[in-house]
Parts: sequence; structure tokens; C-alpha cells
Amino acid sequence: MHLLHTKGSQEVYQGKQWSCLNIWIFLCFFPRTFVSNASKPNILLILADDLGIGDVGCYGNDTIRTPNIDSLAKEGVKLTQHVAAAAVCTPSRAAFLTGRYPIRSGMASSTERRILFWNGCSGGLPPNETTFARILHQQGYSTALVGKWHLGVNCKSRYDHCHHPLNHGFDYFYGMPSTLLNECQGTDEPELAKSLQDTYWLYTQIIILAVLTLLIGKLTNLFSVKWKIIICLAIYGFLYFISWFSSYGFTKYWNCILMRNHDITEQPMKLDKITSNMLKEAVSFIERNKHRPFLLFVSLLHVHTPLITTEKFLGRSRHGLYGDNVEEMDWMVGRLLDVINKKGLKNTTFIYFASDHGGSLEAHSGNAQLGGWNGIYKGGKGMGGWEGGIRVPGIIRWPGVLPADIVINELTSLMDIFPTVIQLAGGAVPQDRVIDGRSLLPLLQGTVQHSEHQFMFHYCGVFLHAVRWHQKDSGTVWKAHYTTPVFQPKDSGACFRRGICPCFGDGITHHDPPLLFDLSQDPSEANPLSADTEPLFDTIIRRIGKAVEEHHKTLTPVPQQLSYYNNMWKPWLQPCCGTFPTCWCDKESSKAEDIL
Ligand SMILES: *[C@@H]1O[C@H](CO)[C@@H](O)[C@H](O)[C@H]1NC(C)=O
Ligand SMILES: *[C@@H]1O[C@H](CO)[C@@H](O)[C@H](O)[C@H]1NC(C)=O
Ligand SMILES: *[C@@H]1O[C@H](CO)[C@@H](O)[C@H](O)[C@H]1NC(C)=O
Repeated sequence: MHLLHTKGSQEVYQGKQWSCLNIWIFLCFFPRTFVSNASKPNILLILADDLGIGDVGCYGNDTIRTPNIDSLAKEGVKLTQHVAAAAVCTPSRAAFLTGRYPIRSGMASSTERRILFWNGCSGGLPPNETTFARILHQQGYSTALVGKWHLGVNCKSRYDHCHHPLNHGFDYFYGMPSTLLNECQGTDEPELAKSLQDTYWLYTQIIILAVLTLLIGKLTNLFSVKWKIIICLAIYGFLYFISWFSSYGFTKYWNCILMRNHDITEQPMKLDKITSNMLKEAVSFIERNKHRPFLLFVSLLHVHTPLITTEKFLGRSRHGLYGDNVEEMDWMVGRLLDVINKKGLKNTTFIYFASDHGGSLEAHSGNAQLGGWNGIYKGGKGMGGWEGGIRVPGIIRWPGVLPADIVINELTSLMDIFPTVIQLAGGAVPQDRVIDGRSLLPLLQGTVQHSEHQFMFHYCGVFLHAVRWHQKDSGTVWKAHYTTPVFQPKDSGACFRRGICPCFGDGITHHDPPLLFDLSQDPSEANPLSADTEPLFDTIIRRIGKAVEEHHKTLTPVPQQLSYYNNMWKPWLQPCCGTFPTCWCDKESSKAEDIL
């Protein structure tokens, strides 16, 4: 159970342990055909934001209280090698919903901006990508998203909602189209502004200079340049200017908004009520749909900064505000489990809990920890290659169908949820594109010992930083790092100054030959192997290199959703309650409350 405490000792890959007694018992009591027997279960997916694997009791934390999440593991399956496809929100969530590496959908960034920054930008999950929600909807499920989306809103105009959850297979949406930011609260150091203001202002100046130069050149006939180019550049400069301007004080109005379906209900959103409102929405969706199969994706705002915590939980944990927030999140999970139990849905509901990527090491305020803890794993949020950025908790419960209190150490991915829930719903995965996830059911059922994943590619933006190889015959899990960020834990190394580690440029190191680790012996990635210490070194590197080559052949160019242009604030795309630019509303609270 206490994997995270086994530092130094070896992490046991239990595939073989599984195979003896457990599988035997399991096969006797659970027929292989259970999936068709227990057809179309309800599906409840709970995804935490920025939660570290070391923050959870059943993953070895003995000072933070997460009894509800632990109970899920006790009554279900705990995955210990569960890996996100990216170490930041937007691409990881795109991969989760589509079962595909973010680079396939254009959701992996080639710039330093790796998440969508604005509700009013034109990037987002392309409408021609297929989410599991869309397929489950086609299979007769009632589908809802409650919470954070962060995969875009509009393409061309304010109301086209081309990237909106309702255009991606969800029948119901209540939550934030964007993400929580310190700006939403307004008391902490601005988060978005910090990472943007300098570059926005710099680009604005460069473009103004360029436009002036071209203009003078043209007017004095010094050189010829088309008006079209000058005008385009001027518009570009203007956009940068207003983005720069907006990031001072307006972010709250532009990004911190709450929507119900296509309507904005709060702009800016009220943080003190969001937790109870989200719970209310999730619970009433379950109640409304208890007689039909439903898919409910609860995409928690916890435990992202600014760590919105209700009074009841403040000061309760032993880990400051961060710990309070984690414990509140666990309480929310408990409330959801209560409703499932009370409505008699326990045995007919497949529940999944995970985090979108590792905890953020950079989130600090003085000495106070504001980000998650990744246990024995190196690195954290933003680091696409190191385990701490991508290895997350993953728990699945389905009583009566899946075994209880089982640990699976096989290689699994958040992308596996896509084919898994589609299989549960009796649907088929799209055949016209590459799907990288693999159904978890055979592994959960115990009909196979090993997951289908042999290689897994760990990207940082569009840059391949590391690759892991589960060598099936030896059971070893190798990991080769081609690129690592320059990062020193526990001091103000490069990443800390930038807020997040870069994927390219001067903040990274290339490795040739790659840094190789044996994750099965060295899960903390502390002891790189070499040709001297590992006789098979060259063979392993060559084999992994070949897999990379084959993987590259499956990639096709797609429009870049996180390009500078697509990730820029555009006034004509800004969701607005009222008449732009005076966007304000509060449709949630009743009049009576307002008077009080
Ligand atoms: C438990 O979680 C807290 C909060 O992230 C962390 O500070 C602490 O080190 C963790 N403890 C263990 C034993 O992992
Ligand atoms: C639910 O599954 C559990 C575990 O298999 C079983 O003990 C219980 O009787 C089941 N409950 C119902 C209502 O079928
Ligand atoms: C979606 O459309 C883009 C072009 O608009 C194309 O490059 C991409 O391959 C399409 N994706 C899928 C999954 O069909």
C-alpha cells in the first residue's frame, strides 16, 4: 500500500503477483463476460486539478486526510503507474477526452504558451475531434460536464461556441470554460499577468516599430511593401496591445466566468459559492438521470491556486491552505459517493478518480506550500518527462463487477479512459484516426496480466522529452530522457523564476545518449544508467529510438490550436454577459440574497 514510502527499495511491479491467487479467485467469481452482463453502467469521472500523487492517503500520505478517495481504492482498483499525456492542463485534458496524444489534435504547443490563456481566444479542442462524451451520447447516455473545461470556447465569433462542451458531446454543462487563476480572487499575485505582461508588451513594441518602419519606407518610396502586410501587422500589434492592457485588472472579467450550457451566469464568478454550486449541479444531474445511463464528468476546480476553500475547512489540515483544500476536495468526492449510494446506484456506476497531471512545485507563497506533493517522484507540473509531472493517482471502483482492494502496477494512461468508457457503453472507437488509449477492462478484469502499452511518449508541448518502454519479457520499465528541464528541486532554479519549466530554449538540457533509468528499480529517477552499468544500454536506446521513429510516422500535421495567434485575446470572441465591453452579470444568486 505504501508505495511512496518505499524510497530506495524497489518498487514491485505486481503484474506477476496478480497472476497467482488473485486472478484465480477472480476468474472463478467473475465471469469473463461481465461487460456484456453489466451493460451500460453509469459513469462518474472525477478529475482533480494539479493534485500530486503524494497528496493522497492511499498513495502513501499519512498526514493528509483523504478518507473518501481512500475508500474508493479500498472498494476498487488502485493504479500505481497511471500517466498523464501532458504535464499541464489544456493538453492533458484534450488527451483525456479524445484518447489521443495532444500533438495529434493540435493541442500541444510549440511556443512557451502551453495552455489556453483566454476565454476570448480562437484556439481550442477542434470540433472534428471526437470526445468520449460524444460517443456515449450516441449510445443513449445522458452526458454532463460540471466544473472546469479549459479547452476553448469560440472560433470565429462571440457566439459560435465551436469548442464549447455542448459542441463536444455534453448535453449539459455547468462550470468554468477556462481555469481558476489567482486573478479570479484578486488577492494574490496575478498569475496570468505574470507570465504574459512582459512578452505582450515586448511584442507590442516590436510590432509598432516594424509597422512604423514599413510605413515610412513605403511613404518615402524607400522600398515597396504591400498595404495589406502593413495593415495585418498593425492589427496584430493592436491585438497584442489590448491583450497586454487586458491582463491588468480585466482578467477577472474575461476569464473568471461561470456558464450554464450556453449562458453566462456569473461574470465575474463568485468564488465563495462555487464549491457548493458545483456539488448541487452534480447531485441534481445524478438525481435527474438515475433511471438511465449517465456520464458525469466532474472536473474539479480543486486543488488549483488560488485554493478556494470554504470556511468549514480552513485551518483543519496539517498542511496549511493547500492541505485544507485537498481535504475539502476529498469531502466533495465523499458527497458524490453518498449520492451514488443513496440512490442505489453503487453497483451500477463505474467511478474513476484521477488528477490531470502532477502537483505544482513552483506554487509557493513565502514558505507556504500552495502546490501538490509528488511523493518519491522527481519534478512536477509543467515537466513533461519527469515522473512527478505526469504520474498521477488513478482509482477505479465498480463494486460487484471489478475486484475490490486491488493494486495494479501496470503501465496505464489517462487516455485509456476513452476506449474504456466507450466499451462500457457498447460503442466503437473512431476508426478514421489513431487512438492512443487502450481499454483498461481486460486488465481490470484480470484476463490479461500486462496492459497493452509497450511504449509511452512523454511530450512537453510538441517536443518529445522522454519515452518509456515496458519490456514485457523482462518486466522492466525503462525510461529514456532526450531532454530535461534545468531544474534543481528545493531552490530557486530556472523553473521557479519562470513559474513553470520550459520545454525548449535555454532552460533545458539535451542528452545524447539519452538519460536512461530503470523505473522498476529506480522510480525516483535518481541513478542514470550508462553503458558501463547496464550491459544492454545500447540495445535499449536503439529499441526505444526505433519506437520513436515509428511513432513519428503516425503523426500528421494539424492546425496549431495554441499558436501565438490562436492563443491571443480577441475582443470579438470574448464571451460576454451584457453588451461588450461592459460584461457583467450575476444570475445565480436570488434577489433576496442580494438584498441581504
Ligand atoms: C502529504 O501531503 C502534504 C501536502 O502536499 C505534503 O507536504 C507531505 O509531505 C505529504 N506527506 C507524505 C508522507 O507524503
Ligand atoms: C453490490 O455488490 C456487492 C459486492 O459484490 C454485493 O455484496 C452487493 O450485494 C451488491 N448489491 C446489490 C444491490 O446488488
Ligand atoms: C480535423 O481537421 C483538420 C483540418 O481542419 C485536419 O488537419 C485534421 O486531420 C482533422 N482531424 C480529424 C481527426 O479528422
